[in-house]
Amino acid sequence: MKRSVDFERVLSLVDKIISPTYLNPTQEIVLREVWNGKTYTKMAYDYNYDPEYIKTVGCNLWHILSQAFDEQINKSNFVPFMRRKISSLIDEMEGDNSEGLASNQDLNPSKEQICNWTTAPDTKNFFGRDEEIKKLHSFSKNPDCRLAVVSGMTGSGKTTLVTEFAKSIKEQFDCVIWFSLSQRPSLTELLNKYLSIIAPDQISGSNPKELSFLLSELINCLREQRVLLVLDGLQCILEVDNNGISYKQGFEGYGQFLRSIISTNHQSLLVATSRIKPKLLEYYASDQVSFLDLQGFDKKATISFLGDNIENSLIKKELLQLSRTLQYNPQLLKIANNHLEMLSEDDAEQVVKDLSLLEEIGNLFEQELSYLLPLEREIVYWLAISCEELSSSDLSRHVEHSQSKLKFTYGLKSLIDRSLVIKENNGYALMPIMKLYLRRKLVKQAI
Ligand SMILES: Nc1ncnc2c1ncn2[C@@H]1O[C@H](COP(=O)(O)OP(=O)(O)OP(=O)(O)O)[C@@H](O)[C@H]1O
Ligand SMILES: [Mg+2]
Repeated sequence: MKRSVDFERVLSLVDKIISPTYLNPTQEIVLREVWNGKTYTKMAYDYNYDPEYIKTVGCNLWHILSQAFDEQINKSNFVPFMRRKISSLIDEMEGDNSEGLASNQDLNPSKEQICNWTTAPDTKNFFGRDEEIKKLHSFSKNPDCRLAVVSGMTGSGKTTLVTEFAKSIKEQFDCVIWFSLSQRPSLTELLNKYLSIIAPDQISGSNPKELSFLLSELINCLREQRVLLVLDGLQCILEVDNNGISYKQGFEGYGQFLRSIISTNHQSLLVATSRIKPKLLEYYASDQVSFLDLQGFDKKATISFLGDNIENSLIKKELLQLSRTLQYNPQLLKIANNHLEMLSEDDAEQVVKDLSLLEEIGNLFEQELSYLLPLEREIVYWLAISCEELSSSDLSRHVEHSQSKLKFTYGLKSLIDRSLVIKENNGYALMPIMKLYLRRKLVKQAI
């Protein structure tokens, strides 16, 4: 009799046969997809791997399985071989009803994936960001990478991007936990939350557990299971002052948390978003911590984004012209979109002026300024009062804080990464709408 054999049974048998070693996540993907009849090329495309890499994983896998089953196994005979093997094991079991490998429980483990999305936004209408998603996939493929930080200006789409990424990759993890730092939870709260999801047994009981205990329990979990942690809004526990970027008072423990995630051995990944690029983490080896500076949309994504939100094609055209002024920042595009009536009457220059007067735009820029280092703020103000673009040498001559050329160069680069400063042909310019806002602010202060 020909039985239908589901893949979980196959996996269970393979796990048992190759024990004490185990399949890594990529080997499991290859096995699953060969079972589903996919080619290596299709697998590589679907999971964003290099086709050569998938082939190598496949070759190693067939070698391991051939040794374990003591029979030549390859991609073409794997499926019939496993069907035969499992059928004969079931026959044996039905025959002597013996315990062991063929017991139904062993062959069909219910390895349930846990996904906890808490307040993650809906990403049904997600546009563009192909390159950025690809980059995040490449970080997660690197077994040494344990922390990926997506930083960028307010409203650049960090939260939306990492959420979409986590959704696209969730199958490769045993557990996915999305958590926002906007309420500034203490580290103890955060770790308790994580453990209550991943290993509730470890923290049950009425006694509050020590921070060090919670941290080492979490790291154990990250070692035993492949967990994807998404931590949104790292800037909530960071602050910027004259001495640079540091953890806010009372949140210093997060430093130890991040250090432990980065430098201990485990198979999990933490993806964090932050408006402030946490330079404190730049000292770790570059393959352990990866950074992605998120800028605005590209033109194609802007068109799709505007097309989806705006019915009126005249307004859409005007908004497209405006988009460059707004540095293709999704949040700014949305705000502009909410004030459509202005767009239908005035010319583009007037519209930008009006937008720069909006309270929500002012708040957004004030927040941006609060995240800047003094040197970066000084560059921004010099560019705001300058009538034309400034060359790097003119700018560095103006900026008193730039004791060293190196510091100045880093400051300027960081502003470009945040999309606040634009590199033009003849030098550097401030994001036009921010320039209007700051000029008006300076005049107000002078009056
Ligand atoms: N790729 C995208 N596709 C569709 N909408 C997007 C995309 N990226 C961002 N948006 C929209 O733009 C707005 C801002 O995005 P998001 O909240 O992700 O930005 P952010 O960088 O996390 O901002 P903040 O710094 O305030 O946390 C949201 O309304 C979001 O829906
Ligand atoms: Mg966000």
